[in-house]
Amino acid sequence: MFAFMTFAPCLLFAEQSSATWSDKEVLYAVGSVIGTFIMVIVGMIPLLIYYLDNTKRAEENKTTTAKVMEATTDRQQLLSEMQKQLVDVQREAGILRVSETKMNVQTQKQKEFIELLQSKLNNLQQIFDADRRRIERALTKDGQTWNEKVLSTAPEFRPLAEDDRRTPIISVLNLKGGVGKTTVTTNLAAALDGLGYRVLVMDLDLQGSLTSMFLIDDREVTLLDQEKVLYDFLKKAFAGEFPNLLDYTQTILSNSGLVPTNDRLFYAEMNLTIHWLLREANRDVRFLLRKELHLKRITEKYDIILLDCPPVLNVCCVNALGASDYVLSPVMLSRQATIRVPVMLARIKEFRDNVNPTLKFMGLLGNRATRPGLSSEEQNRLSLVRDKCKEIWGEPVYQFRAAIRQSIDIRKAEDQSRPLNKGDDLYPDFVKLAQEIETLLPTYCRRTVTIPAKELSS
Ligand SMILES: Nc1ncnc2c1ncn2[C@@H]1O[C@H](COP(=O)(O)OP(=O)(O)O)[C@@H](O)[C@H]1O
Ligand SMILES: [Mg+2]
Repeated sequence: MFAFMTFAPCLLFAEQSSATWSDKEVLYAVGSVIGTFIMVIVGMIPLLIYYLDNTKRAEENKTTTAKVMEATTDRQQLLSEMQKQLVDVQREAGILRVSETKMNVQTQKQKEFIELLQSKLNNLQQIFDADRRRIERALTKDGQTWNEKVLSTAPEFRPLAEDDRRTPIISVLNLKGGVGKTTVTTNLAAALDGLGYRVLVMDLDLQGSLTSMFLIDDREVTLLDQEKVLYDFLKKAFAGEFPNLLDYTQTILSNSGLVPTNDRLFYAEMNLTIHWLLREANRDVRFLLRKELHLKRITEKYDIILLDCPPVLNVCCVNALGASDYVLSPVMLSRQATIRVPVMLARIKEFRDNVNPTLKFMGLLGNRATRPGLSSEEQNRLSLVRDKCKEIWGEPVYQFRAAIRQSIDIRKAEDQSRPLNKGDDLYPDFVKLAQEIETLLPTYCRRTVTIPAKELSS
């Protein structure tokens, strides 16, 4: 249309003008060229507009894309940041969970620990209460606490038997002091030794009178320093150190031995009594001597054992009774002294019934008699005592035919720290006693050393 519009005026001009044909042709041509040119130009306008528009849009798109890209990058950064934070949070949450678990475990442990402590405390409280009850009972029982039942863990009593233990153990006991226990033990040991017995004597009284009858003071001090007295043996035996009693035994007389003591025994007594009252150890303090005195190493070395007991039922006395086959009671023939004999027998019976059913009462021995045998008054007094004893013991109580006279020889011998010897006036009284004891023992409990008859009679 533009070409026509351009071409038409040119054609009109050429027709109306007076131009010649050839001029017309030129005008036509020019008109056509211009018209075409215009047409091309006009035709390109939309294209140009389209191109410009497109370019603008592309530019805009580019900007938008860049912005989007930018935004996307930001978001990605943000996202990875957030992811990092998420990981951190998750890790922290994990840590928290772990520490929470740890805390729970700790709390549980604390709870268990508190419960354990509580139960221990309860146990201790129970033990404490039991101890308290035991001590209170012991205080009201006036010493009879020793009669408590024997646990199966206690060492067994090996009874005297021909093919087993043939060394009798005799406790020389009276719960009254000064009646002649130590005097009888000392001189009976001497008499038995003289008859050919290998005698073991033990001083269980912390006064140590028996010890001083055989050992001079210097020797006692040395043994004390060397820790070779009864105290040391008992301490070690209770501590479970298995001491050998022979290491604590001193040779005396011809074939005999002595386990000495001194007043340090008081501390052993105290300690062992407290252990007993509190029942602290499994070991029963009542059987420290039984365990040892029934051992072969002792029974093979000695034919008879005499235990010089204290006048009170304490650890040592109870140990003596727990180990013994027999009790021999020297009795002074005064009214005051005889009156206490049935009471003592009642105590021994209780002990026998509860602790050592094998224990036998060997007999009552009159001491400090006014004449050989006994005066009729002394005999009557002893008979009365025996009747009472029979009621308590449940069977007749033996009275030795032998009796020990009152004699100055005893004092003389004591002053020289020695037992009576064959030259002393009173010595035969103890020989008689020894021979009577021999008849009361089983026949297999005999001396092992044979003494020529000539020597015996001299
Ligand atoms: N038959 C006796 N003759 C003379 N004095 C004796 C006689 N028996 C014991 N005595 C004296 O009596 C005191 C006490 O004797 P002892 O044997 O130590 O008694 P216990 O051991 O029972 O306490 C001693 O000093 C002792 O000299
Ligand atoms: Mg004594």
